[in-house]
Amino acid sequence: MVCDTLPCHVPVLLTEVLAALEPRRGGWFVDGTVGLGGHSEALLAAGARVLAIDRDAEALHYAAVRLAKYADRVQFVHDDFRSLKKILSRLGWGQVAGILVDLGVSSWQLDHPARGFSFRQDGPLDMRMDVCQTLTAADIVNTWGEAELATLIRQWGEERYAGRVARAIVTARRQAPILTTGRLAELVRQVVPTCGPHRRDPATRTFQALRIAVNRELEGLETFVSEATDVLAPGGRFVALTFHSLEDRIIKHALRREAGIPDGDTPVNEKGQRLVPKPRLRLLHRRPVVPMAAEVTANPRARSAKLRSAERLPPA
Ligand SMILES: C[S@@+](CC[C@H](N)C(=O)[O-])C[C@H]1O[C@@H](n2cnc3c(N)ncnc32)[C@H](O)[C@@H]1O
Repeated sequence: MVCDTLPCHVPVLLTEVLAALEPRRGGWFVDGTVGLGGHSEALLAAGARVLAIDRDAEALHYAAVRLAKYADRVQFVHDDFRSLKKILSRLGWGQVAGILVDLGVSSWQLDHPARGFSFRQDGPLDMRMDVCQTLTAADIVNTWGEAELATLIRQWGEERYAGRVARAIVTARRQAPILTTGRLAELVRQVVPTCGPHRRDPATRTFQALRIAVNRELEGLETFVSEATDVLAPGGRFVALTFHSLEDRIIKHALRREAGIPDGDTPVNEKGQRLVPKPRLRLLHRRPVVPMAAEVTANPRARSAKLRSAERLPPA
């Protein structure tokens, strides 16, 4: 991918995504998280037609510039991929040949201080993927109670020092509202020790929790997998890339449910038999596909990526 004039995001597990989606089969492919267009570019180069969705209008603009030479085979939609069924019905489309979601934020969003996701560079405490929404990270940090903040940071940041972080936030905001990523990151670093083999910045987990809350990233993901299954043509492929255990767990359970594989949450009847729904998907891999060491070396952001994929079965 050329990164000289446009902001850059190196597509993760690109070869594996193409192998799972098989764009040469033809038809329309949905890229629910087009971002800067890395995966879509490869799908289009392989001959596919792409419905490119993103809730970030700025990302869509850059994707449109990058994909300009494929303009006759790509359609851009500024929306949330969780509204896929509504989007398809608005366009008057039926089934699609493949669906990709590459969850989370792009490296460009993370690295662009004005978007307020970065704990490395100072910027407004924003974190909205879609700037049309009103709730920002600053609203949460400056208005939520200490207990609510602690729960959020513990659950969605998986931060064991969540209580300390919440207390530090509430104490600091009494002096002045916390309005910048730099001030929040410093507060967290003062109360959370740096540890672990990768010596990650102590602010990483708190920022993840806030980002998830601002963008309601985990809400409706399970329903989305079910709706994506509804709109896939028989033989169509679904691919999800996840970057942390919270979203991966949801995708894994949703795919297993659609594949008719029972798990701990499967309801049981009065005879103790598990009520497994009829399978609508076939998992392409039992275990998630993860990047090879060479990809992680070249693109460290790929290190936590997991690819899960499945194929739509013909109706029973
Ligand atoms: C990891 S990036 C995708 C990068 C892209 N695959 C590429 O190769 O350039 C994730 C993108 O998904 C978008 N996004 C995240 N959640 C979304 C949602 N629920 N609906 C639509 N777009 C979303 C973000 O705004 C971001 O641009």
